[in-house]
Amino acid sequence: MNTTFLMKLTRVSYQIMMESKYVIDATICCHRSSICSNFLFYYDLFDIIIKKVEVFDFMKIEFLGHAAFLITEGDYTLLFDPFLTGNPMATKKPEELKPTHIFVSHGHSDHIGDAILIARNSSAKVYTIFELEEVFGKQGVEIEPGNLGGRLPAEFGSIKLIPAFHGSGIAGGHACGFVVKLNDKKIYFAGDTALFGDMSLLQDEQIDLALLPIGDVFTMGIEDAAKAVEMIQPKNVIPMHYNTFPPIEKDPVEFKKLVEAKTQAKVTIIKPGETTEL
Ligand code: NI
Ligand code: MN
Repeated sequence: MNTTFLMKLTRVSYQIMMESKYVIDATICCHRSSICSNFLFYYDLFDIIIKKVEVFDFMKIEFLGHAAFLITEGDYTLLFDPFLTGNPMATKKPEELKPTHIFVSHGHSDHIGDAILIARNSSAKVYTIFELEEVFGKQGVEIEPGNLGGRLPAEFGSIKLIPAFHGSGIAGGHACGFVVKLNDKKIYFAGDTALFGDMSLLQDEQIDLALLPIGDVFTMGIEDAAKAVEMIQPKNVIPMHYNTFPPIEKDPVEFKKLVEAKTQAKVTIIKPGETTEL
């Protein structure tokens, strides 16, 4: 067996890995023969072992408009800040959604949105700040409250409540963001927040995907959100909380250009109703 043939097979197995929907561990075993002359190696035995390590779909991220996202991987469907009724950019009705878990970053109506209705319809557990427990609990919704800095275990990984520099929408509470470990990936959902220095602490979390507001007026604008990316150093970013209403009209392409010029992060712009995969 010669080296050209070996290289061809290596390429084929690499293509199988890249094009497959599944994660495949392809190991090419090359047994060098004991014959080695004139500085040429001869391969006398060669086999490719392809074993399926774990079969799971890619993580699917659907933007529902404003700050609402539906993130699905395997058996889990996570819904973030489901503001659909009254959201001019919404592409889905609350009745269409059957998430397994719901996340509510704070009590403003453009974030709590239809969370109670959807939680009742789907029996999804709601993760939010402690002060919102009563609001949800009174409606008979199962709630898993936490507070800033706390990490909660979950069937799919874990959830950590991150400070958000923003009003809570409820007396005595704080707004929060979430670092969600979903299987092998980490998502930072910032909620509504201003830029703040402690975002750089999120570097240690090694975030795969950051969902960041860029609309300005009520949250970070484009420049501050780009600074946030420099601090957090996520692999991927999706902008949110813009163009829903006239005061927060922003060009996400401007944000993408700024971030990709300054950082290694990849910015994916998705329109409401569109889905991307990670
Ligand atoms: Ni808000
Ligand atoms: Mn908001």
